[in-house]
Amino acid sequence: MLGDPIVIQSLTKDFNGFRAVDDLSLTVRQGSFLGFLGPNGAGKTTTIKILTNLLSASGGSASLNGIDVVQHPKEALAQVGAVVETPEFYPYLTPNETLAYLGEIRGMSKEDISRRTKVVLETVKMTEWADKRIGKFSKGMKQRVAIAQAMLHEPSVIILDEPTSGLDPRGMYEVREILSELKKQDYTIFMSSHLLNEVQEVCSDVALINRGRLLKTGSVEELLEQASVKRIEVRTIQQMSGELLNSISKIEGVQELRASGENQFMFSLTGKDQEQAQMLLRLQSLGLNVVSYKESGLALESLYMSLIKDSR
Ligand SMILES: Nc1ncnc2c1ncn2[C@@H]1O[C@H](COP(=O)(O)OP(=O)(O)OP(=O)(O)O)[C@@H](O)[C@H]1O
Ligand SMILES: [Mg+2]
Repeated sequence: MLGDPIVIQSLTKDFNGFRAVDDLSLTVRQGSFLGFLGPNGAGKTTTIKILTNLLSASGGSASLNGIDVVQHPKEALAQVGAVVETPEFYPYLTPNETLAYLGEIRGMSKEDISRRTKVVLETVKMTEWADKRIGKFSKGMKQRVAIAQAMLHEPSVIILDEPTSGLDPRGMYEVREILSELKKQDYTIFMSSHLLNEVQEVCSDVALINRGRLLKTGSVEELLEQASVKRIEVRTIQQMSGELLNSISKIEGVQELRASGENQFMFSLTGKDQEQAQMLLRLQSLGLNVVSYKESGLALESLYMSLIKDSR
């Protein structure tokens, strides 16, 4: 079928006069892993529900593999696997039974069901739990079963709404490992998240949204390059006193300064390598003995925060 895997055009959703999604247009290219990133209430779940035909749009359109979701929902969603909101499974069924039941509903043959069940449970590392009742599973394990069911019918597109939401650090780690595994396979993945580090870690592309509007889109790499606000961490021989911090804060270009240890401080800097090199000289001319001076990995975070701030 011709057409990009996911195409969203001028999508709008109003809830009693409140615009949750506002003229959103976005194309997800074949084989990419898009992080649909935005803070709480940005409109992520609403967009995903429209994409999966759980909710109707007020305006605009969405198509999957070139097929309009509203006009031909069955065909459009045949090649899609989704996890929207915390899935509820029958607690007295096992993963094997659950997948058999879901496979049947989706019209899969018995052979396909048993072949795919093995593969997908392997992918989400739930093979040894295949015959245990889901009712006893942790939230993280249930989420892994949910991801398994999304892959069951060999879809080309996978849509996930905040798959690590509500999980403890270990559960998050395990789900992210699975996401990284999915990335290596041929799927096109659309995943919402409000966690920038998660998107940075597992996604190839990112679309930033806030208040229902698209703020920025591109590859994670491109965005990192464009992120002109950098977070710099400096370690010095000197101890950080209030007095010293005060004089550092007066240096031109130093923003959002704070001490981050006895001999350490962090600040934001707008600019590229040139400005960054200049800043080191300025710090040294204050008499600081700089032991290390490095960009912390939060560049995209700063960009994210400044984009969100500007869109208010
Ligand atoms: N059924 C509804 N009726 C009225 N308002 C709604 C409804 N569903 C969502 N909204 C509102 O639309 C906005 C977007 O909600 P949505 O759930 O899409 O955000 P989100 O990006 O998924 O947020 P979160 O990160 O909290 O899951 C919010 O302000 C929300 O209160
Ligand atoms: Mg949501």
